[in-house]
Amino acid sequence: MSASAQTHGNGSIPKPRSQRQLVFNVLRYDPARPEAVPRMQAYKIEEADSMTLFIALNEIREQQDPTLQFDFVCRAGICGSCAMMVNGRPQLACRTLTSALPEETTLAPLPFFELIGDLSVNTGKWMRGMSERLQTWLHTQEGERDLRRIEERMEPELAEQIYEMDRCVECGCCVAACGTAQMRKDFVGAVGFGKIARFRLDPRDGRSDDDFYDMIGDDTGVFGCMSLLACHDVCPKSLPLQTQIAFLRRKMAAMGL
Ligand code: SF4
Ligand code: SF4
Ligand code: FES
Repeated sequence: MSASAQTHGNGSIPKPRSQRQLVFNVLRYDPARPEAVPRMQAYKIEEADSMTLFIALNEIREQQDPTLQFDFVCRAGICGSCAMMVNGRPQLACRTLTSALPEETTLAPLPFFELIGDLSVNTGKWMRGMSERLQTWLHTQEGERDLRRIEERMEPELAEQIYEMDRCVECGCCVAACGTAQMRKDFVGAVGFGKIARFRLDPRDGRSDDDFYDMIGDDTGVFGCMSLLACHDVCPKSLPLQTQIAFLRRKMAAMGL
């Protein structure tokens, strides 16, 4: 018998993974309908080659249930809008191959963020509030910008470090995985620490460490962080959150002495 024709213990020939029947148990809830109660709904589909969770959800919505709510824009891991809980772990639907999932998968919306409906949450509203609070834009000492001036030079290594932190897609996975964020809504989360780290690195930003300490030197910031690094483990862009959080904690702890 060839290796490809080997049978299971019960004598049946196993199906190739591309012919699996997948079951998605989806947490359904519409907070806009007062009479609605949260419930699980199961959908079955046939797996296709190279299928992503995003493609599977689209197929379900197109062929079985147009009322199913979930978000997407780019389908390429760039917009950050398709994050959801996949078997209890926050991840991007468009970057999750169904071949990496078991035959039965449970899907739920990200916790912490305002629920819009089913798998759709309002990460944008929270991200905007966090950005305004941490003032995540360049604070220069200059007045009017002279647009005819040549670009300021920056060492390539430093530009690379800043670019690395700028790769954040604001998906919310790090916040959804964070124990502190589940306990306090005013915690800035790893995404907030990443923003601070990014602007601290940037020599064009005129803010001092005292200014940054004023923003994150308390329990809503670095001192609320338990350093268990679930954020680092789930970040779909593999940002160096562990390094940046450790650095900020050491720096801010020294300033608070
Ligand atoms: S730091 Fe990573 S997990 Fe957190 S919002 Fe940015 S990309 Fe998403
Ligand atoms: S290390 Fe800090 S920010 Fe990251 S998940 Fe843990 S408490 Fe949250
Ligand atoms: S749809 Fe944009 S990150 Fe998934």
